[in-house]
Amino acid sequence: MTTISSITVVGGGYMGGGIAQVCVLAGYPCVIADATAEAAQSSLARLIEEARIFEEQGLFAPGSTQVITQGIRAADSIEQAVADADYIVEAVPERLDIKADALGRASAAARPDAIIASNTSAMPIEKLASLVTGPDRFLGVHWMNPAPFVPGVEIIPASMTRPDVVEGAEALIRSVGKSPSRVSDQAGFVANRLQYALFHEAVRMVEEGTATPTEIDEVVSNSFGFRLPFFGPFATADMAGLDVYVGAYESFHEAYGDRFAPPALLLDRVSAGDTGLKSGGGFTGMDASKIADIVRYRNRAYAALSALRAELGPVPGRRGGDEGHTP
Ligand SMILES: NC(=O)c1ccc[n+]([C@@H]2O[C@H](COP(=O)([O-])OP(=O)(O)OC[C@H]3O[C@@H](n4cnc5c(N)ncnc54)[C@H](O)[C@@H]3O)[C@@H](O)[C@H]2O)c1
Repeated sequence: MTTISSITVVGGGYMGGGIAQVCVLAGYPCVIADATAEAAQSSLARLIEEARIFEEQGLFAPGSTQVITQGIRAADSIEQAVADADYIVEAVPERLDIKADALGRASAAARPDAIIASNTSAMPIEKLASLVTGPDRFLGVHWMNPAPFVPGVEIIPASMTRPDVVEGAEALIRSVGKSPSRVSDQAGFVANRLQYALFHEAVRMVEEGTATPTEIDEVVSNSFGFRLPFFGPFATADMAGLDVYVGAYESFHEAYGDRFAPPALLLDRVSAGDTGLKSGGGFTGMDASKIADIVRYRNRAYAALSALRAELGPVPGRRGGDEGHTP
């Protein structure tokens, strides 16, 4: 497995800049390349200034700006930037022609043992792999926005990605203090596919006059949004009761047709007597003897989240702009 001690970021914009900040603060010297030498210099200046603001706001530890200033340098070209890198992050805009140019040039100039990772939000990694010289050292490593402050990173191997490359990327992500989750190579992976599914249904509700965007956002952040920092959709269903979900699906199915038909995976489980937390089991293997502990954890979590929201106050600058909705 390649030992990673130097990192190059190709595309030092919003995500690439944040990734470079995190990696440098974790002790990896970084090089940034952009579309031109001037763009790389201005990306570097921007992310140093941003680090200074984060440090001032207490979001970065004292001394971080100095570490970042000393640890990141801007390269004149992609070729120069990748020449010595052990690990290369591609974070150029989400356009296939730009990805093709950046990945093609970076992989042709990189050492054959360098790992190459794309930060694409939704493009299948297998499709991008065809643009890479040495596709068996290529994978998706999808950071979330804003990179310095969100823990999750999706690790997406293509069918040809070598296992040691996947392990190397996972180890790197852990070593910079993030939480890697290995997912399979489908468009949008897990995080964006789910986020867009929610958005899709929300837009549909606006189109149908169910509620306005502001009303929907308010309901989400004040209701099931509370669960999400602690429980995903499966733990939420297990705790609600899978039989309860089957019951609710009857109304959904009747109202919205087959796109809301109860999933066979759910029906099979309930038919077999597995109703989630209350029976023990469920999708997340919940221990029914721990109900009191789980409920206590949940209640503490939600109370703490309520307190945090009260402390932070409302989101600044949110005007709504769609008042007056009458269903
Ligand atoms: N912004 C997000 O919320 C987010 C979250 C996760 C993943 N992503 C993904 O990360 C990638 C980068 O997104 P971003 O939001 O940082 O974009 P961005 O526009 O902020 O940054 C892209 C950078 O790439 C540079 N660039 C453009 N053409 C180039 C080229 N040919 N060679 C080298 N550099 C070039 C740009 O100058 C810019 O600095 C995209 O694939 C995006 O889908 C974005």
